[in-house]
Amino acid sequence: MSVNFNTKKRITTKTLQEMKASKHKISMLTAYDYTMAKIIDAGGADVILVGDSASNVMAGHETTLPITLDQMIYHASSVVRGAQRAMIVVDLPFGSYQGNTKEGLSSAIKIMKESGAHAVKLEGGYDIVDSIKRILTAGIPVMGHLGLIPQSIYKFGSYTVRAEREDEAKQLINEAKALEQAGVFAIVLEKIPASLASEIAQSITIPVIGIGAGNGCDGQVLVSHDMFGMTHEFSPRFLRRYLNLYGEMKDAVSQYCSDVQRGDFPNEKEQY
Ligand code: KIV
Repeated sequence: MSVNFNTKKRITTKTLQEMKASKHKISMLTAYDYTMAKIIDAGGADVILVGDSASNVMAGHETTLPITLDQMIYHASSVVRGAQRAMIVVDLPFGSYQGNTKEGLSSAIKIMKESGAHAVKLEGGYDIVDSIKRILTAGIPVMGHLGLIPQSIYKFGSYTVRAEREDEAKQLINEAKALEQAGVFAIVLEKIPASLASEIAQSITIPVIGIGAGNGCDGQVLVSHDMFGMTHEFSPRFLRRYLNLYGEMKDAVSQYCSDVQRGDFPNEKEQY
């Protein structure tokens, strides 16, 4: 019997598990504010990720490292107010969980309490298993993130494809299994070979959501500003742009400036 997931009912960890079991692909997009969350929710995305990519696309930082816990909570609470159906997952920012399970737990609790989101996401493998387990003791669902983990960019030095070597691929498979064992409800795999992502998706029972990880994953995620074509300078191979909003918005601004300069805006009907 096929299950209908296209209802108005709120998506939960259980729904995502059922989607994987019935091979219904999961769609996830990032959002950082109320208006974008409303659009993405209305469009039918199953999960909205309040990613720490907000540090790049909203604040203009070069990396995800500078964003703070309070800034993530501000973004997350705006998104929560905009979404009725999608499950809201929030990134724990750099420095709020690494190497300190107690801090990881209090960061996760603060996010859940102050934003109203439904789960948190942490980057890393073996190194963060203890933090994951401690967060789970508070009943907070945790999503993992392996492969290219942008919070560790200075350790790796580049944003190139990860786990191309056999030993790295083996480690990634084992880390995915360790995260599943620890109790995460899903794992994001970023920028790894498609065959490896597919193998991982088949060897664990929780959903695997890919970004630059090929079509064998249980779902896909993109940064919404990239897929809307608002960030026109960023063009990795894995990115499909569904709009060219940078161009369209820029042209709209030019048109507005010209209308104002010519005294054409506002016209008779646009004034009191
Ligand atoms: O911060 C983010 O947007 C992410 C996605 C790229 C998965 O972690």
